[in-house]
Amino acid sequence: MGDKFTLFNQEEINKLASIKSKDELDRILRENLKQLSKIYFELCKKDNSRQYIPPSGKVLDEKELFNMIEASLDMWLTTGRYNDQFERKLADFVGVKYALTTNSGSSANLLAVSALTSYKLGEKRLKEGDEVITVAAGFPTTVAPIIQNNLIPVFVDVELGTYNIDPDQLEESITEKTKAIFVAHTLGNPFDLSKVIEIAKKYDLWVIEDNCDALGSKYKEKYTGSFGHISTISFYPAHHITMGEGGAVLTNNDELYKIIMSFRDWGRDCWCPPGKDDTCGRRFNWKLGNLPKGYDHKYIYSHLGYNLKITDWQAAIGLAQLEKLPDFIEKRKENFKLLYEGLKEFEDYLILPRATPNSDPSWFGFPITVKENAPFNKLELVKYLENNGIGTRQLFAGNMLRHPAFIETDIKLRIKNSDIINSKELSEEHYKLLPNTDKVMNGTFWIGVWPEIDKEDIEKIGNIFTEFFKNV
Ligand SMILES: Cc1ncc(COP(=O)(O)O)c(C=O)c1O
Repeated sequence: MGDKFTLFNQEEINKLASIKSKDELDRILRENLKQLSKIYFELCKKDNSRQYIPPSGKVLDEKELFNMIEASLDMWLTTGRYNDQFERKLADFVGVKYALTTNSGSSANLLAVSALTSYKLGEKRLKEGDEVITVAAGFPTTVAPIIQNNLIPVFVDVELGTYNIDPDQLEESITEKTKAIFVAHTLGNPFDLSKVIEIAKKYDLWVIEDNCDALGSKYKEKYTGSFGHISTISFYPAHHITMGEGGAVLTNNDELYKIIMSFRDWGRDCWCPPGKDDTCGRRFNWKLGNLPKGYDHKYIYSHLGYNLKITDWQAAIGLAQLEKLPDFIEKRKENFKLLYEGLKEFEDYLILPRATPNSDPSWFGFPITVKENAPFNKLELVKYLENNGIGTRQLFAGNMLRHPAFIETDIKLRIKNSDIINSKELSEEHYKLLPNTDKVMNGTFWIGVWPEIDKEDIEKIGNIFTEFFKNV
C-alpha cells in the first residue's frame, strides 16, 4: 500500500465532486473520518512501551479526535455549539446552576476574584485593601488574582497529610477587613467544607473553591465546586479531564453568573453568545452610564474585562472527555487505594495522604511527605524515583512566600493574625508562623494516580520504593 494509498481513487473522487448536496458530502466526510480516527487510535494503543511512569497525563481516544474533526468541519472557530453543550453538562455534573468555560484554570481563578470586585454587588463587593484568606502551600494562580485585584492575601497554615488549609487557624486570622476565603482542594482532597462554610457564614465572607485539581471529589455526598459562591476548574492535560488548555467558573448565583460572563467577554454588558445579536430584545434601547439612549448594547461595557473564552475545538474535546469522567474518577480512586496499600509499610519515614473526614476524593495525585526523622531527605528519594522511571511532582510552589515573585517585589500581605507587611520584609521569623507550609516545601512531593497507570505500574512503583528502603 505504502505512499500510494489514498482513501478514495480518482473515480471515487470524481463521483464525490459531482455530489451537489452539501449534506450528503458532509455525511460521507464525517463518516469516513470517524472510521479513520478509530483505526488511528487502535494503532496508537499498540505502541505502549513506556519506560517512565508520568505523574499525570491525558487519556484520549478516537472520540476526542473525531469531535475535533467535527468542530473543524463546522468552521465556527470561536465558542459555539460544543461549548453550549459542554457548559450545560459540566454544570449538571457538578450540580450547580451555571458553568462558564474559560481558557485556563488560572483564568477561571482570575475571573472568580475579579467578579467579586464588581460594583454590581454593592456593599458586598471586594474593594482595594480588603483581605482574602488563602494558603501559601499550593498553586501560584490561586494567590495571584488576589494581588492582581489590589486585595491583601492573608496566609494561613496547612495540615500535613490532607495538605489543606488548617480550619482551626481560620477564625483567628479574620479581621474587619476580611471579605473572602479562596483556597484549593489540594490534589483532589476536599478541604473541611463544613468548617469553612460555617465560618464564612458567621463573618459574611465570600467563598471561592479552587476546584482545579478536584473535579469529581465529594464532600458529604456532594461534589466539590458546588459549595462556595464561586468555584473553578482546570482542563490542562494533567487534570481529571482536559481540553488542552481550558478551565471553567461555576456558580449558583444569577448575578455572579452575569458578572463573570462580562469579565470573561471583554467586560461587556451584553450577554449574546458569539455570532448572535439582540438576545435581550433591547439591543438599541438601553440607557447606561453616560451613553446616549440606544447606544448598541453589544458595545456597552459594564466592567474592565478580558477576553478569556475558549474555542469550539477545546469544548469539543472537553465534551468527549466529560463522558469518560466517571470512569476516570473510579480509576484514580482505585490507583490511590493500591498505592496506599503498597506504601503503608514505609510509614515510619513517610507521611501518607489522609482524606479529609466526610470526603471521597477524586485524587489528582498521591502526596507523600518525608518525615523529619527519616535518614534521607526528599531530594534523595525524588531523584531515586525519577532515575528509576517514576515521575514525581512537587506540591506546586511548596511555600509561595519564599519565591522570587514575593521576595523581589512589593506585595502587601498578612500571615495569620500578624500585622500587614511588605513581601520584601519577609524573614525566617515570618516563615515560622507557617511551619507546615515549610514542611511541605521541604518534605512533600507527589506521584501519579491518573487513569493510564495500571496495576503493573503500581507494582513497579512499590518495588522501586522497596529497593530504596533497602539501602537507607
Ligand atoms: C490548584 C490549582 N489551581 C489553579 C491551577 C491553574 O490551572 P491552569 O494550569 O489550567 O491555568 C492549577 C494548575 O494545575 C492548580 O493546580
